[in-house]
Amino acid sequence: MDELERAARRDPRRPGFHFRPRAGWLNDPNGLIQHAGEYHLFYQHNPDAAAWARMHWGHAVSRDLVRWEHLPIALAPDPVGPDRDGCFSGCAVVDDGRPMLVYTGVSPEVQCLAEGSADLRAWRKRPGNPVLAPPPGLELSGFRDPWVWREGDEWRMALGSGVPDRGGCVLLYRSRDLVRWDPLAPLASGPPEPGRVVWECPCFFPLGDRHVLLVSAVPPGVSRWLVGAWDGERFTPEREGRLDLGHSFYAPQMLADTDGRRIVFGWLREERSAEDQRASGWSGVMSLPRVLALSPEGELRSAPAEQIASLRRAAISAPPELALGPEPCGLARAETAQLELEARVRLPSRARLSLVLELGRAGERAELTVDRATGELALERAASSLDASTFRLRSAGPLSLGEDELLTLRIFLDRSVLEVWANGRCLAARLYPTDLGGISIRAAAAPSARIEGLRLFELAAAE
Ligand code: FRU
Repeated sequence: MDELERAARRDPRRPGFHFRPRAGWLNDPNGLIQHAGEYHLFYQHNPDAAAWARMHWGHAVSRDLVRWEHLPIALAPDPVGPDRDGCFSGCAVVDDGRPMLVYTGVSPEVQCLAEGSADLRAWRKRPGNPVLAPPPGLELSGFRDPWVWREGDEWRMALGSGVPDRGGCVLLYRSRDLVRWDPLAPLASGPPEPGRVVWECPCFFPLGDRHVLLVSAVPPGVSRWLVGAWDGERFTPEREGRLDLGHSFYAPQMLADTDGRRIVFGWLREERSAEDQRASGWSGVMSLPRVLALSPEGELRSAPAEQIASLRRAAISAPPELALGPEPCGLARAETAQLELEARVRLPSRARLSLVLELGRAGERAELTVDRATGELALERAASSLDASTFRLRSAGPLSLGEDELLTLRIFLDRSVLEVWANGRCLAARLYPTDLGGISIRAAAAPSARIEGLRLFELAAAE
């Protein structure tokens, strides 16, 4: 174990049941694939420091989406060649039995292939890389993050791109052999925007009777979903929204599994200073696996993968039912920084629910609210850390409930990671209390609410 890993292990804010690098830097999930009974998670990785530089593909494997085994690095930049400045994001496909990684080499941004051994443990880059370079004579803000799928007896590749002063877009290519690629009309493009906007990390797949396009727009660094119709040639978006209502979640990618589930992992960015990240020896966490579904209106929703329940340990004592009023009342107290709260709440129309998470003993806290009058789910975390260098902006987004709809909450706290689900909407945030000595939860509602089926669990580390 080297010094970086020793530092990472010492950091009390390092999560226990969210996937994160052993040490060093992590960003986007890459190459998500289920193969021979195993889930593979590759990710943007700098093994040398907890800072973004010279991107590698880290690699981990799991049988349950929850407990991950770290494997050796899958791709590293070559000293010379098309990926000498980094192996950027991409995907995994199986071409006639051959596992392939399709990724972006830099600089300039070009698309490259690597072929895997049958167990996906060893990767050999194609000697003739790259297979696709930007079109000459066209100025693009980006040309990266290939997402490849089978369309009839051909391959399609979506690429993250944008046109300066025009906005972000997703380029589309076709191929028969993954090697020769021909352009098609763009798959999608964003609203006109000045500057160099890139729609990074496109991800495109069927869900129910619709197609979903995920894109991560930078600036500002927000992931969005578009749901619409795909006729094999043209995508017609019908609805769109944010995949996560916080500020941390970014660059999600979808994993299709043999149970027919579409599961998304996203990068939960750090919300603390670059110096703090470096000193901690690690940076960046994956979200929990989020199983996608469409609402009856055709909006994208998610739920935590059921396997996460296998981490539940001791139940934390809490009243299963409780009438709430404006006066805060204690729900539970636990000597752990890794827990799950599950509750159903009858929240009358126009009522507002407040859950305060008291973190440690230094008065640091975060408040989660669901307001039926404004139709908003919000996290107030101005007081979540005494460390003024942490990012503590309020996060919020729309959450409207039907007249008789119960509010269903799943809240996961994993040291510096908070992930909240409320009726299919998700909000992730990073919290950095200086004291991690236990947690108290208080609830209030104005004018009133009723909590039903409240359960709290301490969660085990996923190692
Ligand atoms: C998104 C991104 C991708 C790129 C990768 C580099 O976070 O910027 O567009 O491939 O990260 O690490």
